[in-house]
Formats: sequence, structure tokens, C-alpha cells
Amino acid sequence: MTEQQALAHIGVVGLAVMGSNLARNFASRGHTVAVYNRSYEKTALLVEEHGNEGSFLPAKSIEEFVASLERPRRAIIMVQAGAATDAVINQLADAMEPGDIIIDGGNALYTDTMRREREISAKGLHFVGAGISGGEEGALNGPSIMPGGPKESYESLGPLLESIAAVVDGVPCCTHIGADGAGHFVKMVHNGIEYADMQVIGEAYHLLRYAARMTPAEISDVFKEWNTGDLDSYLVEITAEVLAQVDAETGQPLIDVIVDSAGQKGTGRWTVKAALDLGIATTGIGEAVFARALSGARTQRTAAVGNLPAGTLTTLEALGVDRADFIEDVRRALYASKLVAYAQGFDEIKAGGVENNWELRPGDLATIWRGGCIIRAKFLNRIKEAYETDPELQSLLLDPYFKGEVANLVDSWRRVVVLSTQLGLPIPVFASSLSYYDSLRSERLPAALIQGQRDFFGAHTYERTDKPGHFHTLWSGDRTEVQTS
Ligand code: 6PG
Repeated sequence: MTEQQALAHIGVVGLAVMGSNLARNFASRGHTVAVYNRSYEKTALLVEEHGNEGSFLPAKSIEEFVASLERPRRAIIMVQAGAATDAVINQLADAMEPGDIIIDGGNALYTDTMRREREISAKGLHFVGAGISGGEEGALNGPSIMPGGPKESYESLGPLLESIAAVVDGVPCCTHIGADGAGHFVKMVHNGIEYADMQVIGEAYHLLRYAARMTPAEISDVFKEWNTGDLDSYLVEITAEVLAQVDAETGQPLIDVIVDSAGQKGTGRWTVKAALDLGIATTGIGEAVFARALSGARTQRTAAVGNLPAGTLTTLEALGVDRADFIEDVRRALYASKLVAYAQGFDEIKAGGVENNWELRPGDLATIWRGGCIIRAKFLNRIKEAYETDPELQSLLLDPYFKGEVANLVDSWRRVVVLSTQLGLPIPVFASSLSYYDSLRSERLPAALIQGQRDFFGAHTYERTDKPGHFHTLWSGDRTEVQTS
């Protein structure tokens, strides 16, 4: 064997679960994989436990790791976002040569990726921020991969990434997203949608549990059933599994012994912050992030539980609501709210693309989200079709197919929001998504009044419906109107 043949096709730095699963995925597809971890024990353990799955080249130092890679060298970093990532990038950049490719496969903030890309490209190296979704299982068996960075780096890197990605209808769930931070931007919005999707599923569960008074096992069966229709998705599937789980220690449903404070590592929050800066109304994702924050405010919640007046509440029985009808209404409200979350997420993607000069193609994103990732769902096929038919679609909700879907959902959606309010059950995303929908279709919004108020106290001016220009009313004078531009 010549020295060149013995070199690795790709390398992975950082061998916690995600990194080592990714390395195993590459190896199992016939690639020779260089592996390096700061502490050698993890590297040794990977090779000891999984060395038989393919060809690994374990390295004890970053220099040895770099030397074991074929050119152009391709190294994927799977370490913690932030300072740890910067440290590894610098080590690799010092040891690599022009033309080599450093790939950050973690959940990095896209603006950090843009900065890193500038720094690394100045050294003649390529930097690729790649969003990788699918959790531990996806990393091992086929994730959805969203690589950014220079297009030319995709020529050498793309085939390798596509070979380990999930495949749907013969199409790999991996495509070049756009320059510099585009991949991490899109992965961030994916996670924002993931937050909203999880929250609407949570709200549906909450209603079935506390309005329809069903047991977790019964609700698990409902989700199993829902997973055979429009809501067919990974998150609905695992929801049924979680709800069916019984705690071995207490014999209770596991859901009842899990503390109801949701954690978050930050990607949902980033999505909302970016949306605020872009001026995009991602209300579903925003409410989902706030719902997690409120769930975590345990001291405040403890002070408030049983201590805040609820007003007059009622029950489904008292209102004579049929349980089966209610379950179907909840399914429809969930579907409609989920559609709003996706519509808003795609709006943010489009705005981020314009802001950063990325040619983001929503249809391609829907295509690579059909498999491997956490939000994979059957209806992404429809989203793909919607954006392929009209890439300039003003809102996913205006696509003829989805418009027809919402027409069938909206009455149920309204009933669920009204009933939940009468029962005193929180449904932040169901309710705010319906308000968003009603705002979007309203001919007039109260924003006219806000403009009047702004002009009153700050002379901020307003536009008129009947002629162009900007106007100000002399509120503290004779209240005549002057044109300011
Ligand atoms: C994925 C997941 C993944 C991770 C999130 C969870 O696409 O595979 O989104 O990135 O599980 O970081 O995020 P939170 O801890 O913020 O819920």
C-alpha cells in the first residue's frame, strides 16, 4: 500500500457522542477516518469499541491528525460551540495548508461562523460551517446536513457528506446552502422551528390531558394515530413513545415524574433574536422559546400556583363538548399552528438570505429536511412542492395546497383557542399563531393608530392611504397637517 492510499479521506476532531457517531458513519460507508480528541482515552475507546466497523486512523496530537489526512485535508470539528471551537480551529489552521478545509459541524452561531470564515479564508484555507441535525442516532445512521462556506469546497466535501446523509426518494439530505454562515443560519432556523413544533405538540398533549382528562397511555395512542396522517413526523412519533413510557421506580407514567421545566441550549433563542433584527414575525418560535423560559422560572411559578385568581372556569363536560370532536379539533389546531411555525421560519430564512446575500432556496431546504433531521415530516414534501412551484411565494400559507388545508382547519383552531381560554389552559403557540394568521389576512391593522400615537408624542410622521409622502399633524398646535417629505 502506498503512503497516499493509507491517508484518511476525512477527519473528525472531538469524539463525544455526536463526533464519534459521525466518525463511525463515515467509516461504515467505506471512508478512512482520522480521529482526534483532546484526551486520547476517548480516541482509544472509539477504536477499541468500533474499530471493526471500518478504517480509523487514531491520532495522539493535532499535528499527527493533520498529517494523516489526504489533500485537500478535510477535518470536521465536533466540539462545544464558542471558545472550544475557536481553539480547535486555530490549532488546525496552524497545522494545515492552503486549500485545506475546516468544517465546524456543531451548532455555532452563524455570525461566529461568518467571522471565522473571514479569518480562515485570509490564511488561504476553506472554512465550512455545517449544520448537522438528527441527534446521536442521525449522526450515526444518516443526518440531515446543511453545509455553508465557499461553493468550491463543496466540490471536494459534498460527495463525502452526501454519502453519510439520510436519503429520501433517492435524494441525499445534504446540499450546499450558501456562502460563509448560511449553513449555520439555516440550521439555527431549523432548530427554531423544532422548538415551535415541540411546543405545539406539548400544547396538544396538555389539552388532551387536562381538558379531555385522558391518560398518557390513551394520549400516546392518539399521537400514534395522528402519526399516520397529515402530522406524520419524527416528533409526533417520539411523543407517542415518551407518553407510553412507564417509570420503573414508581410505576407511574414517566411523563408525570419528569420535572416540567424545559432546558434550552440557545439555538431557539438565537432564531428569535435574529428574527427581531431582521424584522420578521416569528411569533410561534418566539412563544415557544418564552414558554421554555417560563417553565424554567420555578420559584416564580411556585409563588403563583394556586395564588392567582383564574376567574370563572368551565369544563368540556359543562359545555357539552363531545370528546372525540374535541380530539379532532386539537389535531387540526396543532396542524394549523405547525404550518404557521414553518411559514414564519421560511420567512426568516428568506429575509436572512437577502440580508446576507445568500441565495437560499426554500425548496431545497424542505427537500433536505425530509429525512435525518429532528423536524423531518411527511408534509415537507408539500412544502418542497410549494416552493418549487413558486420560489417567490409571499407566505407558505398562501400556497394553494396549504391554503386549502387551513380552510379545513381554521374553525377547529378557533374553537380550541376559545375553549382553552374558557378552561384556563395555556396554549401560547396555538393562540398566537391564530392571531398571526388573522393579522396576516386583515385588511386593516391597529398599526394605523400606533402611527398616530408615534406622531403625537414624537413627531415620527405617518404615511397616508390616499397620497404619497410623509406627514405630521401639529398636535400641540392648531392640529393642521404638514407634509414632511
Ligand atoms: C438537531 C437538534 C440538536 C439538539 C438541539 C437541542 O437538529 O439534531 O436540534 O441540534 O438536540 O441542540 O436543543 P435544545 O437543547 O436547545 O433543546
